[in-house]
Amino acid sequence: MPGTLGILHETYPQERRVALVPRQCEVLKKAGLEVVLEQSAGAAAGFPDELYVARGARIASREDVFQQADIIAQVRCLGANPEAGRADLKHFRPGQVLIGFAEPLTAVQECSDLASAGVSLLALELIPRITRAQSMDALSSMATIAGYRAVMLAATQLPKIFPLLMTAAGTITPAKVFVLGAGVAGLQAIATARRLGAVVSAYDVRAAVKEQVESVGAKFVVLAVEAEAAEDKGGYAKALGEDFYRKQREQLTEVLREQDVVITTAAVPGRKAPVLITSEMVSSMQPGSVIVDIAAERGGNCELTRVGETVVHHDVTIVGPVNLPSSVPNHASQMFSANVAAVAKLLMSDGKIMLNLEDEIIREALVTHEGRIVNQRVAELASSGTRA
Ligand code: NAI
Repeated sequence: MPGTLGILHETYPQERRVALVPRQCEVLKKAGLEVVLEQSAGAAAGFPDELYVARGARIASREDVFQQADIIAQVRCLGANPEAGRADLKHFRPGQVLIGFAEPLTAVQECSDLASAGVSLLALELIPRITRAQSMDALSSMATIAGYRAVMLAATQLPKIFPLLMTAAGTITPAKVFVLGAGVAGLQAIATARRLGAVVSAYDVRAAVKEQVESVGAKFVVLAVEAEAAEDKGGYAKALGEDFYRKQREQLTEVLREQDVVITTAAVPGRKAPVLITSEMVSSMQPGSVIVDIAAERGGNCELTRVGETVVHHDVTIVGPVNLPSSVPNHASQMFSANVAAVAKLLMSDGKIMLNLEDEIIREALVTHEGRIVNQRVAELASSGTRA
């Protein structure tokens, strides 16, 4: 008998993505997984139920999806959906596998609750960034969308246009865009701003990024402040001391003064985002300039950022967007779905579902299993009662 993958309607406020798009139903069927979809789960992303049915999926009530599915996939499961996600706890069956964003390094209590419910949680945030797992890297997919979208937001807020224009009415100089934090979202923001014609520069604490920044057409800004070993073995930035951040802010003040747009993406996994732009630094920026703080939901890279709001300080507009990928639900779902399908296929062996703990990807992403937290980092956080 084939296994069943259940897709639920997302319950996080204003979430419009869906964890699987119709096209993937056929792909998964070949791997031995049938899809059961909660009614209208894909509608907000532009995928009505008929499209799923045409690709061989069944449509069911939420309760029936929970009852029938061996694996459940959600974009935001309990940890990443702390309030509404709690209602799912009573529906899970012991042994059920759950795939989704779960914010395991901060939502430790929610992970404990999923463990108590007997769920085997595979958190997409913990998929290792190794070559074999690239097709499963939902963090990168969603960061790509966020980087693109942030530039669109900046362009609509800016009282200028981005490109150089030479017209009979005179010459318009191109906008200057600075990207602070050049990971996946930052690199996409650079490429998008360049396509719109802006002059783009960028900075990242990880020196290895310089070449990548230049390859997408931006100038890498070198600050006279050096971080020893700013990168961990997973390729992520490490948290650095307050002394480093203070020096970094001093140096950045001059850079920011020249910009029309600043896009900030700086993040350290499992921690609050570092504050890289103070209110004083904003005051010294050009009137009319715009900051889009992609790190808003993680505390923000700008001291003045307000989550979900747009604030104006000294004529500088600061945008603190929430859930940017959900604002492009169709393509965001298409990319997320490809990642989920790749993870689901990894769980299939000869048409049967198997959590192979010998597999590095499964071992690292698995947070809860057989009633306990099995990820060492999350378990340590749970026993010390703290977060990363
Ligand atoms: P992220 O979302 O955790 O952070 C965004 C960026 O902020 C990072 O580039 C980080 O270095 C930077 N940052 C942190 N503190 C900063 C500070 N104080 N000042 C300036 N910048 C700061 O990172 P993301 O985008 O998820 O990726 C991090 C890295 O992971 C990538 O650049 C790459 O090296 C690696 N990666 C590897 C993949 C693979 O091999 N399959 C796929 C995707 C990413």
